[in-house]
Amino acid sequence: MKLQNRLQTTEIIESNKIEHRATLKVAYGIEQLEPYKPTSSINIISQKTDMKHYKLDWNEATILPSPKVMKAISEYLQGINNLNWYPEILSNSLRKKLEKYTNVPAENIIVTNGSDDALELINKVFVNHGDQIIVPIPTYTHFYVYAGQRNAEILKIESPDVFKTNLNGILSAITDKTKLIYIVNPNNPTGVMYNETQIREILEFAPHAILIVDEAYYEFAGISMAHLVKEYSNLVVTRTFSKSFGLAAQRVGYLMASSFIVENCLKVFNPKSVNRIGQIAAEAALDDVEHLDAFVRSVTESKRMLKRYFLSKGLDFKITPANYVMVHHPMMPELVKLLEVEGVYVRDRSGQLSNYMRMSVGTVEQTEEVISIFDKVLDQLKKQERENLN
Ligand SMILES: Cc1ncc(COP(=O)(O)O)c(C=O)c1O
Repeated sequence: MKLQNRLQTTEIIESNKIEHRATLKVAYGIEQLEPYKPTSSINIISQKTDMKHYKLDWNEATILPSPKVMKAISEYLQGINNLNWYPEILSNSLRKKLEKYTNVPAENIIVTNGSDDALELINKVFVNHGDQIIVPIPTYTHFYVYAGQRNAEILKIESPDVFKTNLNGILSAITDKTKLIYIVNPNNPTGVMYNETQIREILEFAPHAILIVDEAYYEFAGISMAHLVKEYSNLVVTRTFSKSFGLAAQRVGYLMASSFIVENCLKVFNPKSVNRIGQIAAEAALDDVEHLDAFVRSVTESKRMLKRYFLSKGLDFKITPANYVMVHHPMMPELVKLLEVEGVYVRDRSGQLSNYMRMSVGTVEQTEEVISIFDKVLDQLKKQERENLN
């Protein structure tokens, strides 16, 4: 742009008379990008303070994190310079603790600003315009934004049965252009899990591509592929403190990968991107695995209760290895709305899976209460159905 033009533009802004007409263009790939549309009940909950709420729409923990976390944060806030100084570079002490927790060496771990940040990082470092990314669907849709911003071609692999793995579908989609394969294990929202043999097969079939295994729900499922990181240089396993550890607001996640992947990621990764309170909280959470185990046990028992309940009601449902279940109902939008009136917030998944909703699972006590609300709502739906017939 000529200096003369630049001066004119500045004058226009300063005089504030005419709207500034920039000739800016967004980066390649961003123009057509569909933003991720988060739908959370948080606003409704904060407005309706006169009733009990069950926030079951985002697979968060339904209980507070360990008391050790609360203590560590409040002690931290008493200290000097603890808010004005930057966080610990690369979360090194948390990495050390994660080494013990995961059995993966600290140098093969990067602590990120939520596991979303890890997904974005891998896309940023490895994906070029025109590369292909394979994603079995339905999946965690936020991933599309990270892949889409690299202007990659996303191949969404539909399975003949969405509640079963689709290894052949993935393998047959792999080409020379494949750069990334993204598997959520257990999958969000279906709960489908690929086993180690299947994961190995993909890693061996596509040595030129990275396989991301997203283990956001690992603690509930109890099965991990993290040990394969030592064996396969093209594997990335991501995890989070947002779910079983109850730290979603703190935004702490991590990836585990080979030295090759980690070294390249560290070239662009911002070593101060994880906030200090998040680091402190995550470390304290790892010091109280008993708290985590008790919650996971309670969620497991709740899933048994829900199974019995849905069977008794003749509903079609899926209990997943994670902390959520899928429920099918012919009057799905109505069911979701009626539950919301009663303070139970679930996620209508009809867009991805016809007439299904996803509901997070909490403790046994919470589940007892949710079941009694469910009962009430199912009765209301039956009444509505009868009225519709008359
Ligand atoms: C499969 C999956 N991966 C990643 C995330 C994001 O987790 P985080 O809070 O660590 O960014 C979610 C959150 O719902 C998820 O379901």
